[in-house]
Amino acid sequence: MYVGELLKSLDRISTGVEGLDDLLGGGLPPERVYLVVGPPGSGKTTFGVQFLVEGARGNEKGVFVTLFESPEVIMRDMLRYNFGILEHVKSGRIVFYDLGRMLLSADRDFTWDEIFTVILELIRREGAKRVVIDSFSLLESFVKDSIGKKKALGKFMRRLRSLKVTTLILSEMLSSDKYTDEYYLSDGVFVLHHFLRNYQMVRALQILKMRGLPHDSNLKKISFTADGIKVYREAPI
Ligand SMILES: Nc1ncnc2c1ncn2[C@@H]1O[C@H](COP(=O)(O)OP(=O)(O)OP(=O)(O)O)[C@@H](O)[C@H]1O
Ligand SMILES: [Mg+2]
Repeated sequence: MYVGELLKSLDRISTGVEGLDDLLGGGLPPERVYLVVGPPGSGKTTFGVQFLVEGARGNEKGVFVTLFESPEVIMRDMLRYNFGILEHVKSGRIVFYDLGRMLLSADRDFTWDEIFTVILELIRREGAKRVVIDSFSLLESFVKDSIGKKKALGKFMRRLRSLKVTTLILSEMLSSDKYTDEYYLSDGVFVLHHFLRNYQMVRALQILKMRGLPHDSNLKKISFTADGIKVYREAPI
């Protein structure tokens, strides 16, 4: 690696999530792969769309790969925020790709490598700088070679990095005491929490892991505003 490339690794890009860049000391190191995990309704899709909208505002192309929700449904939900999502889609700065529909219509199981190749081809074709996969946990239901997952995923992540894209992999939290391969292989992990406390729903974000950066791992309060998810410096309770 050249000195220029090493220095570039000190660059940061904005997450687009208000308050989060500060917690990271100025944003995310680019051209890496991050995992966003959380239970249903915790804000994973919103986080992913915010991330692409931030890129689109800076003229960076974003690709949103969806597995079970159709692009139309996601766009309709995101219209409620001030993201200007339709403009970005119309101008081609954000592209939705319905991978779920493609896989379902083939009516067969796939290998991890086959699925990852489709995603990598798409990224290359679109010349994307930011990529979101929503959601990764659902991919497992299309795959026949579950044993080969770790190796295929490791290879996929290396190829994503070499394509110089910054990727968010969204994933359901299947079990809080069991870390799956994605946790270990990704460069950083954000956990979105929501839980009941004294009959009140508490929402929070946690930076569980961030390779190469010192960071606060404590739970931070979040709220959903018209501009999307907002992260506060304080604890949720
Ligand atoms: N316009 C809005 N203003 C405020 N809060 C909203 C708005 N739209 C959605 N929300 C909140 O965001 C939550 C859903 O966020 P999102 O769809 O990003 O979650 P998710 O983690 O992707 O969910 P799933 O696991 O079902 O895919 C809703 O349950 C709601 O509480
Ligand atoms: Mg979602």
